[in-house]
Amino acid sequence: MNKFGIINDQQLETWWMHAQQKVDRLMQKEPQLAPHAAKSGEYDGLTLDNWISGFWPGMLWIYYDMTGDQMYLDAAWDWDIRMERLTLEENRFHHDVGFQYLPTSILKFKLTGDADGRRRGLAAANFLAGRFNLAGQYLRAWNRDLPGWAIIDCLMNLSILLWAADESGDPRFSHIAKAHADMALRHMIRPDGSTCHVAVFDPASGGLLEYKGGQGYAPDSCWSRGNAWALYGMANLFRYTREPKYLQASQRVAHHFIASLPEDMVPPWDFRVPNQETEPRDSTAAAIAASGLLELAELTSPEVGAVYHHAATRIIASLSQRYSTFGDDEHEGILHSATGHKPEGVNVDVSLIYGDYYYVEALAKLWGWSHRVF
Ligand code: GLY
Repeated sequence: MNKFGIINDQQLETWWMHAQQKVDRLMQKEPQLAPHAAKSGEYDGLTLDNWISGFWPGMLWIYYDMTGDQMYLDAAWDWDIRMERLTLEENRFHHDVGFQYLPTSILKFKLTGDADGRRRGLAAANFLAGRFNLAGQYLRAWNRDLPGWAIIDCLMNLSILLWAADESGDPRFSHIAKAHADMALRHMIRPDGSTCHVAVFDPASGGLLEYKGGQGYAPDSCWSRGNAWALYGMANLFRYTREPKYLQASQRVAHHFIASLPEDMVPPWDFRVPNQETEPRDSTAAAIAASGLLELAELTSPEVGAVYHHAATRIIASLSQRYSTFGDDEHEGILHSATGHKPEGVNVDVSLIYGDYYYVEALAKLWGWSHRVF
């Protein structure tokens, strides 16, 4: 297998440098709020208790690790310190603390040995574990008055529990991660590899009540970013546990994702929305899936892995050539054509920081980056 799939090393270097220039430019602005969505070239900012707050510092840590340049470390260093301060007051932290603390505190600990990073990561894992509903075997989503809701995105947060189990030597964290993943296998990942967004349980009895479309088109449709979260999340479950059912689930979802892609490898925001040709694309789903497919390629035999690697590099090539802002130095985003929440009409056809993060993460993996965030 060619190390870079359909991408040659000169292309990879060019895209990596272009992305780095974007990161360097935004870094000079020293954003104090978490960059989130860029509607017309400039990132807006959210407080650091929002679910997206780990992605910007995560990119800084990746560039620090890949270049050794102290300026990235300096820019990333106090991010998790400021995140932790928000836990002392009324805040918005919820099931997504994995997305927030894995690319900040925990990556910081892995790269620098910072004991406070480890402590914060374990505290976040404790917080997530506390959201487990024993009757329904799920981690509760969000903070609204929805104690029975479980969502497909949460599979990506399970890595913080699995990391905490290894780090602390306490298997409770792993029991909870696997229980939630098994719930998703029973109720949220369909036999054809498609996925629902929201499963609603009776929080008292634990019985399944209904499905909701959530950020997807309908309860029985397939939100493409949710499908990418499931692909990548189940691959991570297998990497930590080595239990074949998680690898099989990731492969099933991967096959659905790849087979459902249009010619240019970037999906519509939902794989089952009518009139897909005229619907907005979601470049974040493509970037997440590309990084997840590279993970899957590492976890399978060389012959099978080559299929996932090939699909990942086709996605990355298309994102770089058709969905990047590389020709526009003023634009702060890296990828355009991202969709946040189509049913609510929020952040449609914009740049979103998590699309940029997973694109950079996937490029780094192609360069041979060996650390893992999720
Ligand atoms: N995890 C939230 C989203 O994917 O929009």
